[in-house]
Amino acid sequence: MLQMTPETMRELAGQVTDILVERIERLRGERVWEGDFKDALAHQLNEDPPETGRPAREVIERAAGEVLNNTLRLDHPRSFGFVPTSPTWPGVLADFMASGFNVNAATWLVASGPSQLEAVVIGWFRQWFGMPDGAGGLMTSGGSAAALHAFVAAREAAGNPERPVAYMSDQSHSAQVRAARIVGITPDRIRVLPTDRTGRIDPGAVADAIAADRSAACTPVVVCGNAGTPTRGAVDPLPALADLCAAERVWFHIDAAYGGFAVLAPRGAAALEGIARADSISVDPHKWLFQPYEAGCVLVRDAGALERAFSIQHDVLQDSVWGSKHANMADYGIQLSRSFRALKVWMSIQTFGMAAFRTAVENGLDLAVRASEHIAASRALELVSTSLGIVCFRVNSGGLGEDTLAALNRKVLAHVFWDGQAFLSSTTVNRQFVLRLCILNHNTTWDDVRETLEAIEQFAGEAGG
Ligand SMILES: Cc1ncc(COP(=O)(O)O)c(C=O)c1O
Repeated sequence: MLQMTPETMRELAGQVTDILVERIERLRGERVWEGDFKDALAHQLNEDPPETGRPAREVIERAAGEVLNNTLRLDHPRSFGFVPTSPTWPGVLADFMASGFNVNAATWLVASGPSQLEAVVIGWFRQWFGMPDGAGGLMTSGGSAAALHAFVAAREAAGNPERPVAYMSDQSHSAQVRAARIVGITPDRIRVLPTDRTGRIDPGAVADAIAADRSAACTPVVVCGNAGTPTRGAVDPLPALADLCAAERVWFHIDAAYGGFAVLAPRGAAALEGIARADSISVDPHKWLFQPYEAGCVLVRDAGALERAFSIQHDVLQDSVWGSKHANMADYGIQLSRSFRALKVWMSIQTFGMAAFRTAVENGLDLAVRASEHIAASRALELVSTSLGIVCFRVNSGGLGEDTLAALNRKVLAHVFWDGQAFLSSTTVNRQFVLRLCILNHNTTWDDVRETLEAIEQFAGEAGG
């Protein structure tokens, strides 16, 4: 009833492959963004499920044309907004294979091969980040889930205190605030501390806040440092935060969801010095490790910390207990049924090798430097910050007030958006409205970046900047 013949399965998989490969071949010449308003899409897509099926080829064509096409092309070489990803083809195929093999990476009994491979990939990450032998972790849906797992482990390690407090900076990603809330840290005990002009937290201010909270009978549970803030790629003073957390015996979490894989490049590793001292790190292979969504990971210094926080024995799963050498990954997090996320990382690294990944990360770092040099030399643009592949800047030919400048930059951003040749997003740095390039794509060339900046300079002129 729900089964297809082998011929049909092959034919449909071939159709999908053709669509995907053609999309990749055409990508560079296409607009970066496609989308539509709610009314139009509701009109097109809202319908009751059909009682009898339709030809599968048509369904696939419709999915590609009407649904999947209406997206920001995050893997377009000129997609510089938010935090994009450009997945490798082996990574895409890995997701297909994991679905085709119907893997549930929950327990050793159900998925011994996938469980061992997840341990291999986590082991690679552990080494890249310099964490010690007893460290471990879990593949998650993304950085938000990784932070949540880390915060649960931190709360558990603190003994589930009554008045828990979390510390982070005003540049921390909202995922940390959300994780704190979910683990029961009420908003009035989430200390969002101000940063300096470079976007970094002051460890002294964290120390003062911890002292004040201790005297108010609150329990500091977790300090969250940034290894690449989402706004501008800033890296907090990680060694000083690590010293503070060690002295105060407070869990040290580092959000490296965006910037973490910069460790693959020597200068990225230097910028992230101190990351190895974290109690937990969130990293996102679906950002700077070129994987399809969803691929996140939480690493913990003490692998047992996750298990102690999450493992609950259940009679219906009693056959799955093979002892400590045979980890049930479901004991390390909130999901029982889990997709096999480690496969994409493993297949793409096996296929291309580490040297290629290192070069791809270097490419982003190089292009960010070149972009900032171009901006610094431009008469129409003003450089605001550069760090780890993110460049913040604005149109500013001088002599304009803040409000006028913000309006001008908004106008230029809208121009870039409707022009469709590139996509960038905006943010706020030191209370200024700025434009932001996040350059992570392994296919992005200097011409992509240069032509985007030249277009902005031209729009700036037309808009009166
Ligand atoms: C620094 C940082 N932390 C956390 C997140 C959230 O990660 P995810 O979207 O994978 O849940 C992001 C997403 O861009 C990020 O840039």
